[in-house]
Amino acid sequence: MDIGEFKLALEQLVQDAERDFAAANTPDALEQARVAYLGARSGRLKTIQKQMGTLPPDCRKEGGLAFNQAKQRLQQLLADSQQRIKSNAADSGPQIDPTLPGYRPHLGTVHPITQTIEHLMEIMGRLGFAAVEGPEVEDTWHNFIALNIPEDHPARDPLDNFYLTVAGQAIDDADAKDARLLRSQTSTVQIRVMENASPPVRVISLGRVYRPDEADPTHFPMFHQMEGLWIDREVHMGHLKSVLRLFATAYLGSDVQIRFRPSFFPFTEPSVEVDFQWNGQWMEFGGAGMVDPNVLRAVGYDPEEVGGFAFGLGVERLCMRRHGVTDIRDLYRNDLRFLHQF
Ligand code: PHE
Repeated sequence: MDIGEFKLALEQLVQDAERDFAAANTPDALEQARVAYLGARSGRLKTIQKQMGTLPPDCRKEGGLAFNQAKQRLQQLLADSQQRIKSNAADSGPQIDPTLPGYRPHLGTVHPITQTIEHLMEIMGRLGFAAVEGPEVEDTWHNFIALNIPEDHPARDPLDNFYLTVAGQAIDDADAKDARLLRSQTSTVQIRVMENASPPVRVISLGRVYRPDEADPTHFPMFHQMEGLWIDREVHMGHLKSVLRLFATAYLGSDVQIRFRPSFFPFTEPSVEVDFQWNGQWMEFGGAGMVDPNVLRAVGYDPEEVGGFAFGLGVERLCMRRHGVTDIRDLYRNDLRFLHQF
């Protein structure tokens, strides 16, 4: 082989390699091209190298030079293609388009009872009632005695209340002066408010109450009440009925039917039970009445000077009526499929 043919073969080799390395788009294809051109045993460069020995001796130096240039060129082509394939792979990873509108991850929702409490506070706030709070662990004075509930009243029965222990000892004497219990009604807050403020008083209190009831679709051992209290010089039954009617239509809609039935509570006289209509049926939502003079006296008010009304409504019932929930237990199962709907 003469030097001219040898150089021509090298040129042809470089040209073919340029084409084949450029065409390789995957690591596998590039590896195939590498073996074809630079393979140590039978690559095309190796084949040409073997022909170097057939050159006339005075051309070997020129031939070696040309061979080395071609070899370097091939190695460069290989490196370029490796780089190109690597950066292509990086580009095809997960792509982010910053111009697309985002979507909000699910962060959870406010519990339906908390939503209801906020809604009720807003409605009653518009009617001039300020929201106040009281403790859930109460003493017998605030839960019973000041509310005119005598010692032998069945409402004080240990079987109907969650009495707590005092100094590690179970309270079996529910009449003990220092007996503590989980409050069974929010009427306790009436007493606390009146003990600490002089009339006029216009407040609501929303919070948990506890009764050892068997859980069923309409009962749960813990539930919420909205207590209302309005004491002033001339508050009468007409105010009570107007406030509850305004409240009911604001929360349940203008078509809601409301009814008052004569009833009895130790802390109100006269007393009524408050019913709303639900699916054509009357259902009790709570109790109300004119605050009993004994209660006013217990907190140091003069029943000859001031008086007013109190009411206590079941928050769960209101929430259930508004949202069509038929089982109170659904509110406390912590089933996200239920809660996400609110
Ligand atoms: N505390 C009563 C109950 O839990 C409701 C009520 C409150 C009745 C205020 C009259 C006045 O059943």
